[in-house]
Amino acid sequence: MSLIYVQKAGVGSKVLLGVGLAVLMFNAAQAQTETAAESGMEVTVFGQLPDGRQVDVYQFTNANGIELRVTNYGGIILSLKTPNLAGEFDDIALGFDSLETYLSEEYRQANPYFGAIIGRYGNRIAGGRFALNGETYSLATNDGNNHLHGGDQGFDKVLWEAEPFESDEGTGLVLRYTSEDGEEGYPGRLETEVTYTLTDNDELMVDYRAVTDKATPINLTQHSYFNLKGEGSDTILDHQLMINAPAFTPVNDTLIPTGEIRAVDGTPFDFTQATPIGERIEQDNEQLAFGGGYDHNFVLARDNAASDELVLAAKVWEPQSGRMVEITTTEPAIQFYSGNFLNGDLTGKQGKAYGHRSGFALETQHYPDSPNQDAFPSTILEPDDTYLSRTVYRFSAQESFDE
Ligand code: GLA
Repeated sequence: MSLIYVQKAGVGSKVLLGVGLAVLMFNAAQAQTETAAESGMEVTVFGQLPDGRQVDVYQFTNANGIELRVTNYGGIILSLKTPNLAGEFDDIALGFDSLETYLSEEYRQANPYFGAIIGRYGNRIAGGRFALNGETYSLATNDGNNHLHGGDQGFDKVLWEAEPFESDEGTGLVLRYTSEDGEEGYPGRLETEVTYTLTDNDELMVDYRAVTDKATPINLTQHSYFNLKGEGSDTILDHQLMINAPAFTPVNDTLIPTGEIRAVDGTPFDFTQATPIGERIEQDNEQLAFGGGYDHNFVLARDNAASDELVLAAKVWEPQSGRMVEITTTEPAIQFYSGNFLNGDLTGKQGKAYGHRSGFALETQHYPDSPNQDAFPSTILEPDDTYLSRTVYRFSAQESFDE
């Protein structure tokens, strides 16, 4: 695909179009021109931060018409349109159309982290404290007494430097952010890079890379919520879920892992076979009660896979639309969150309220509270090392879960 850069006069927005491909497809197959003509990427202005910095939206469309919109504010995935079995596209990612909504006090209060990059540390750190190399560090306690998703101004609420690209694998966006030493209480100057790549194989690849000048904990993730019927639809309780996890980490009543690694066998946490999310969610179970539903870290079956090898983490299939998302990752675990804190207060892109459990999040990660739990895989990045992590989401539509 050849990319052509157009500066729209007077509008102040930049547009990049895959015109080469569009023309080619137009000659080859008239019927497909609608999709093909849109294939490529486009950059538009989303708005301004209170300090005047401009925020952009980057739109990518692959050869099959899948469309991804990302902003450099928080690296937020704003929308993702994928086809159902009949070839009809719907936006399956929860989110908003305007920057103002993401910046609003109402949204900050609810803080669902729709679609955002999470850092420096995804999920919770008990008491907002940890000790490292003989020093104790204090972090924001923004979730009761605990630290959640990087603190008051985590990576979901900062402006990233963005650079769109085209590679053999697809088109996408490199996002870069440097978190200064001491930011949100964390040690070390952390240079972070997150790359989104949309492939013609209908995958969204997310690559994370970071280096630091002092030892520091790090646990980056992506916090998209999906509803495979389309965002703004009713609950996700009928979605069928498979998680490739023989065990999970039980939590206390503030959602901090107790340290136990518990087999899922015989519990409502056994998703090793595809099961509707809602089938056991109301069972009388202490762990479900603590989470108000599912909000737990699942330990993936990595067997002897190398730490840079992708393994299957989860698959979700929605029977009405036939949409499926399959997640593979280099991470050792995944947080399954069934949207328990959504309560209808936030209104989405179609003007429909995001009700209780109307979206699910599957966040690939290291275990929560690892900086305080020596038995968990380490999340400490040393100055001589490079943090690398990859998660791939593959979208399809199929007649049955196992097709
Ligand atoms: C994660 C947490 C949940 C919740 C959501 C955002 O999934 O584990 O408890 O905070 O983020 O609402």
